[in-house]
Amino acid sequence: MLVSARDMLEKAREGKYAVGQFNINNLEWTKSILLTAEELKSPVILGVSEGAGKYMTGYKTVVGMVNGMLEELNITVPVALHLDHGSYDGCLKCIEAGFSSVMFDGSHYPIEENVAKTTELVKICKDKGLSLEAEVGSIGGEEDGVVGAGECADPDECKAIADLGIDFLAAGIGNIHGKYPANWAGLSFETLAAVKEKVGDMPLVLHGGTGIPADMIKKAISLGVAKINVNTECQLAFAEATRKYIEAGRDQQGKGFDPRKLLAPGADAIKATVKEKMELFGSVGKA
Ligand code: 13P
Repeated sequence: MLVSARDMLEKAREGKYAVGQFNINNLEWTKSILLTAEELKSPVILGVSEGAGKYMTGYKTVVGMVNGMLEELNITVPVALHLDHGSYDGCLKCIEAGFSSVMFDGSHYPIEENVAKTTELVKICKDKGLSLEAEVGSIGGEEDGVVGAGECADPDECKAIADLGIDFLAAGIGNIHGKYPANWAGLSFETLAAVKEKVGDMPLVLHGGTGIPADMIKKAISLGVAKINVNTECQLAFAEATRKYIEAGRDQQGKGFDPRKLLAPGADAIKATVKEKMELFGSVGKA
C-alpha cells in the first residue's frame, strides 16, 4: 500500500539520512526502483512530473501500475507516490487519482500567491492523509540550451511557507536540475543553514541530485536535508546501457530486440544507479 512520505522523512531527518526520490517514466523504471528498494530494505519515493504523468497516459494509469506492482512484486518497504513540481491543478488531479504525496511548486508566484495556494493544498492534503512538499526559491536548470543558475531561497519566505503546515520544504540553495556546469559554484551551505535555523525540524528537500559530489550530499544531510531527488542520472544510465546493447548488434537472430531484452540492460543500469544513491544517502536498511 502506498504511504504518505511524512513519516519516512521525519525518521530520516532524525536519523540523519535521506530518502531518495527517483522519477519514473515507464514500467521498466518503476519496476527497477521498487525491486532495488525492496532488496536494500530502503524506503523510497517515486516521483512523477506532470510531463511524465501525461506520457504514461495520465495519473490514474500511474496509480494503477504502481499499486499493481506493490502487490505483485510483494513490496514491503514504505513507498510514496509523489507528484514532482506540480501545478495547483496538477496537485488536485493527483490527489483525486490516488497519489500519496504531492509537491506544489509555487516558487514562480509572488510569495503571497504561493502562500495562498499552498494554504489551500495543506487543508486538502491533511484531510486525506497525504504529504505535501512546497518550494521556495526556484531550482535552476537547462532550458532551451541555456543553463540558469539555481536561486538561493530567502529564509524568511521559507519560514512563511513552512509555517502553513506543509510536511517538507524544497529550498533553493544553488542546486539545479540536470548536469552541473563546469563553473558551478556548489551548494550554498550558508543558505541551507539559515533556512534550517528558521524552519527548525521541518525535513528539507534537495532537488537536482544528479552530479552533486558525495561530500556535499553528506554535508547537506547533516544540515537537515531528508529527501534527495534524482532523475537525470537514471536517464543517462538507461540511455547509455541501451546504446551499448544496440551497438553490440544483439539482433543477429532477429530476437535480440524484443523489447523485453532490449530494455533489460537499461533497467539493470537504473537498479545500479538507485543502489549507489541509496547507499550514499544512507537509507539502506532503514525500512
Ligand atoms: P536531476 O534531474 O538533476 O537529478 O533532478 C531531479 C529533480 O530534482 C526532480 O525534481
